[in-house]
Amino acid sequence: MIKKIIVYLPFIFFLNTDVYASENQSTVLITGSNRNIGFEFVKQFANKDWRVIATTRSLESADELIKFSKENKNVIVEQLDITNDEHLQFLKKKYKNEPIDILLNNAAYTPRYLSSFRGINGVEVDATRKSFEVNTIGTMKVIQTFIDNVEESNNGKIVNLSTKAASFEERPAIPMMYSYAMSKAAMNSMVKTLSFETAEKNIIVIAISPGTVNTTLGMGLMGAIDIDESVSKMMAVIDDLTMDHNGLFLDYEDGREIGW
Ligand SMILES: NC(=O)c1ccc[n+]([C@@H]2O[C@H](COP(=O)([O-])OP(=O)(O)OC[C@H]3O[C@@H](n4cnc5c(N)ncnc54)[C@H](OP(=O)(O)O)[C@@H]3O)[C@@H](O)[C@H]2O)c1
Repeated sequence: MIKKIIVYLPFIFFLNTDVYASENQSTVLITGSNRNIGFEFVKQFANKDWRVIATTRSLESADELIKFSKENKNVIVEQLDITNDEHLQFLKKKYKNEPIDILLNNAAYTPRYLSSFRGINGVEVDATRKSFEVNTIGTMKVIQTFIDNVEESNNGKIVNLSTKAASFEERPAIPMMYSYAMSKAAMNSMVKTLSFETAEKNIIVIAISPGTVNTTLGMGLMGAIDIDESVSKMMAVIDDLTMDHNGLFLDYEDGREIGW
């Protein structure tokens, strides 16, 4: 334990961990915000003067995020592995009774692992288990932890990054990404189920597809869109959400409905 504290002491010392919302300032909590889509959300919300609780699985792989937070007084960096109950409980206590206007579930175990491009006999059970642990159960735990904070907001939103790979109607008709698609389809099911509760609480919960985004080397050559384009379009969709969107799966591009 003491060893752990010594290792993290420099990070804790230099982090912006006590930034309170100024009057009328909205708050977003983002998971997986140290890189790619999550980090871009941090930057775009901070530029719009939101208070950003930017959470990251590990502080050691969050140099850029930590640097950004030091230059942006609205950004607070917190450690949150969404599968770690201690992290979740610590933040639940720390932010008790504070309104969170948008809870943005971005973190995921994404298919950069080889077995995601194999057929059924190549699907690795461990990768599948981990996909469910992070993408489905982890996302659910984040919502369980912070839903009271979202309810404290006058028009709270819970936004869950999904993928067309999980859509029965719009997925590519090729056998790949079993573990990822299964775990995100299960997450979508959680979103739909939750929407019947959030309807009573004046909270909007949605799943959103960010499109195919250039987050991996070579994806640009395959027609993927830039990260900033995906995020700025999702921001517009999120901004326009009303209670009519509660329980829907939406596209980043124009907010159109995607079939589950
Ligand atoms: N890129 C695309 O084309 C695309 C398409 C459809 C949907 N999406 C969805 O969009 C979201 C972001 O995608 P991306 O491409 O930016 O993903 P990415 O580059 O793989 O980044 C994933 C993020 O999730 C974090 N993460 C993984 N496990 C975690 C855990 N247990 N606890 C907390 N954080 C964890 C990672 O942290 P570490 O850096 O510490 O590992 C990283 O910050 C994901 O939900 C993904 O499924 C992306």
